Amino acid sequence: CGIVGYIGDKQAQEVLLEGLSRLEYRGYDSAGIATIENGVIRVEKKKGRLKNLEDFLAKEPLAGNVGIGHTRWATHGVPSDVNAHPHCSLNNEIAVVHNGIIENYMALKEELIGLGHQFISDTDTEVIAHLLNELYTGDIVETIQMALKRLRGSYALGVLCANEPDKIIAVRKDSPLIVGLGQGENFIASDIPAILKYTKNVYLLDNGEMAILTKNDIKILNAKGETVNKEVFVVDWDPGDAEKGGYDHFMMKEMMEQPKAMNDAITGRCSGNSVSFSGLHLDSEMMKHINRIQIVACGTAYHAGMVGKYYFEKFARVSVEIEAASEYRYKNPIVDKNTLLIVISQSGETADTLAAIRLAKDKGAWVLAVTNVVGSSIAREAQDVIYTNAGPEIAVASTKAYVTQVGCMLLLASYLGQLNGKLGKNDAARLCHGLSITSGLIETVLDNQDKIKKFADANHEIYDLFYLGRGLDYCTCLEGSLKLKEISYIHSEAYAAGELKHGPIALIDEGTIVVAVCTQEHVFEKMLSNIKEVKARGAYVLAIVQQAHEEIASEVDEVWTIPNMDDDITPIPTVVYLQLLAYYLAVARDCDVDKPKNLAKSVTVE
Ligand code: G6P
Repeated sequence: CGIVGYIGDKQAQEVLLEGLSRLEYRGYDSAGIATIENGVIRVEKKKGRLKNLEDFLAKEPLAGNVGIGHTRWATHGVPSDVNAHPHCSLNNEIAVVHNGIIENYMALKEELIGLGHQFISDTDTEVIAHLLNELYTGDIVETIQMALKRLRGSYALGVLCANEPDKIIAVRKDSPLIVGLGQGENFIASDIPAILKYTKNVYLLDNGEMAILTKNDIKILNAKGETVNKEVFVVDWDPGDAEKGGYDHFMMKEMMEQPKAMNDAITGRCSGNSVSFSGLHLDSEMMKHINRIQIVACGTAYHAGMVGKYYFEKFARVSVEIEAASEYRYKNPIVDKNTLLIVISQSGETADTLAAIRLAKDKGAWVLAVTNVVGSSIAREAQDVIYTNAGPEIAVASTKAYVTQVGCMLLLASYLGQLNGKLGKNDAARLCHGLSITSGLIETVLDNQDKIKKFADANHEIYDLFYLGRGLDYCTCLEGSLKLKEISYIHSEAYAAGELKHGPIALIDEGTIVVAVCTQEHVFEKMLSNIKEVKARGAYVLAIVQQAHEEIASEVDEVWTIPNMDDDITPIPTVVYLQLLAYYLAVARDCDVDKPKNLAKSVTVE
C-alpha cells in the first residue's frame, strides 16, 4: 500500500526504512525492501509492523545505493513474509513493488507456470516479476513496456533489474506514484510524506507514464514511449507537518491542529458578507443549468457530504443526492450535463471516488472536487477543485480533514446560493460570521479534555454505544460512531433519533450508554422526548447541547456543552467532542490509535 524507492550515494536501506516509516499511517500488515549490491538483488521482508523489519536489518543490513521498499495491505493472499513485497523472479533477476490489483493475474500465472516458472506467494504482484523475467530483452524499459500490454487492472510499480543496477523504473496506472528530484539522488514514492525529508520537488506521474531514474537523471515517457517534459511540482508542506511534534499520537496532534486548519480553510474565501473562491470555473451562468447536485465520497468524507447535502438544500435550494462512491459507480446513476457532481476526498486518491468522477464526466456532468491533497489524482481529474487546506493528515482516523470538509461544504453552499440568488444577503453575512468564529469554538471543546478522558476511563469496558441526533446532529453522530469503531473497536450505532422507535430501541438496556447530540433548536424538544424514551429503558445518557440548554442536566446523566452559536455551525465544534471521546476510549483500551487494525488511510484499490 506504500511504495518508496531510492537511487543515489546514500545507503538505500536507510532512506527506504525512513520513507516507509512515513507511510505507516496508510495502514499495512507487512513490509520489505530490496537493494542492489554489486549487481545482486537482495530482499528482506517481514510480516507485521515495520519495526520487525528494522530490527532484523539492524543485525543483517542490506548494502547498496539503489533500492525499493513497500508496506503491504493484503488483497491477494494473507499477510505473511512470503506475500510481502518486493517480489522477485527466478534468481532474483528482477524485483518489483506494486500497489493496486492485477485483474488477470490468474491467467498470466497459469501461462507462466506452463513456461516453467515457479511461484512462491499467493500475490498478483509476483506474476509481474515473472512476466518481466520471461520477456526480458536485455533492456528493462523495453521489457516493462511489453509487459504492460499484458497487464489488466491498476498499478503503481517500482522495478529493479540486477542486470541494469544503475536505474529504478516506476510506472503508474490508476494508483498514485510520484518521483522526487534530489541532487545526485532521486526518489519514487506513493505519497509525498515518504520523501518530504529529502526533497520538496516532485513530478506527479500521470496515468500510463513511466519514469526512468538514475542517480543524476530522470526521464519520463508516456504510454506511447515518447519523452514527456514534466513540470516540477513544489510541495508546500513543511517536513515538520508530518511529525508528531511531542504528542503521543498523530490523531491527537491533528485534533489539536483543527482551529488552525479551519482558519486555513476559510482564509481568503469569506470576506465580510460573501463567499468567493479564486480560480473556480463554476459561475452563475453555469449554475442556471444545474438542476441536480450529486455528492459522492467514502468513509468520513461521505459524512461531510451528508452535512453538505443539508447545507446545499437549505442555502442553494437545489435538490441533492448523496451516495457512497462504491455504490454510485455500479448503478447507472442518472447524470447529465445539468448535473453538478461534488466529490469529497481527503487523500484525493480513493479508487471508487475517482471512478465516480470518470463516470459522471463521461455523461457530461460538471465535476467539482473538495480535497486536501494538491496535485492528487482526484484534484487533477475534476474540472474544479476546492482545497481544504488542512495540511497533511497522517492518522488513519480523519479529524482535521473532516472539519475542514464540513467548513468547505458551508462555504460552497453559500457560494452556490449567492450564484443562483437563493441565499439572501443577511444569511450570507450570518454564515460568514459563523464560519469566522469556528476556530475559537473548536478551541473551547479542545479545552474540555479532562472531562472527556474521565468519562472514557470510567467507561472503557463497554461493548457498544449509541449516538442519537436529528438533522445536522444526525450527520455528526454518524461521524462520531465511525470514529469510535475505527480506533476503539467498540461496536456503535448512530440513529436519526426519530427512527429509534422503529427498531433500535429494542437494543437499549439497563446501563447502555447513549450519546444524545441536541444542538439544533428546532428539534430540541423532539430530542428531549427521545431521551426520555431511552432513559425509561435504563440508558445512561450523555447529552451534548449548546450552553443555553444546560438545564437538560436534570433529564440526563451527564452534559457536555458547546458555546451558544448559530445552529448551522454546530457540526464543526460538536464533532470534536466525539473525536476526543473515541480517542480517549481507544487509549484507555490500549488500542493502536494511529494505526487501527485492518484499516488503510488511503484506499487506492476497489
Ligand atoms: C479510508 C480511510 C477513511 C477515509 C476514507 C475515504 O477508508 O480510512 O478515514 O474517510 O478512506 O478517504 P478519502 O481520502 O477519499 O477521504
